[in-house]
Amino acid sequence: MKQNIYDDVEFSSNYDNLREEQKGTNANDLIEIPNFRKLMPNVNNKSILDLGCGYGENDKYYKENGAKSVLGIDISHHMIDKANRDNKIDGVEYKVLPMEDISNIDGKFDIIISSLAFHYVENFGKLIKDISGLLNSNGYLVFSQEHPFTTCIKYTDNVKKGYIMIDDKYFGLFSDYNRSGLRTKEWFGKEVIKYHRNFEEIINTLIKNDFIIDKILEPKPTSEIIEKNPKYINQWDRPFFLFIRARKS
Ligand SMILES: C[S@@+](CC[C@H](N)C(=O)[O-])C[C@H]1O[C@@H](n2cnc3c(N)ncnc32)[C@H](O)[C@@H]1O
Repeated sequence: MKQNIYDDVEFSSNYDNLREEQKGTNANDLIEIPNFRKLMPNVNNKSILDLGCGYGENDKYYKENGAKSVLGIDISHHMIDKANRDNKIDGVEYKVLPMEDISNIDGKFDIIISSLAFHYVENFGKLIKDISGLLNSNGYLVFSQEHPFTTCIKYTDNVKKGYIMIDDKYFGLFSDYNRSGLRTKEWFGKEVIKYHRNFEEIINTLIKNDFIIDKILEPKPTSEIIEKNPKYINQWDRPFFLFIRARKS
């Protein structure tokens, strides 16, 4: 099931606040963006497609750092409107399009990227097959998603958080890991739909679609990160995000 929660006015205003008012101290700025950029191959003169591009900050960044062209797509009008307002430069295009429909895109790309959006897509096999079809040979897929240790938990009325604190130490809750599929979690007062997949499914789906796994990152917090936001010491206990760089053979 496709959910366009970022077009819900209440949800998106809370999400915008998280990204804007906590700029520099949220998990995107401290953990996701720097690790993603570490994993990126050389973008010089490359064509890039960004799936679930959100505000398009990455698309502008990669164009300014030498990419030939960047197309960012997102299911949300709110996100694409903001991308066009804040991060539209020559050579960067944005389009409202769900990832489920990328086989309709004309042309091929050298690099396909996606930050923190794949866990919203139900049919991972189709998504990776479509991506493989849009990539030039030797092209790269680089993506981050919520870590399977995070997506696995089935939340209930009695399980609202994914962790407990004991002696001031963070312990992540872990359950239902080998039960792939739909998960719902309350975020900003809304029931947000995500999909859990275990490592076996993620890695084998990539292999089945002619990808060679090049590098995986499970980020650890540096002392600078912990200084800027002390709660991220919990990244030693359980990574929030998983990053994969894979090359099409
Ligand atoms: C957590 S935000 C990340 C945005 C951006 N990639 C970033 O890192 O700043 C997730 C994004 O995925 C988009 N998204 C969710 N489901 C989608 C789908 N089925 N197709 C395309 N975009 C989707 C949302 O609208 C949202 O912009």
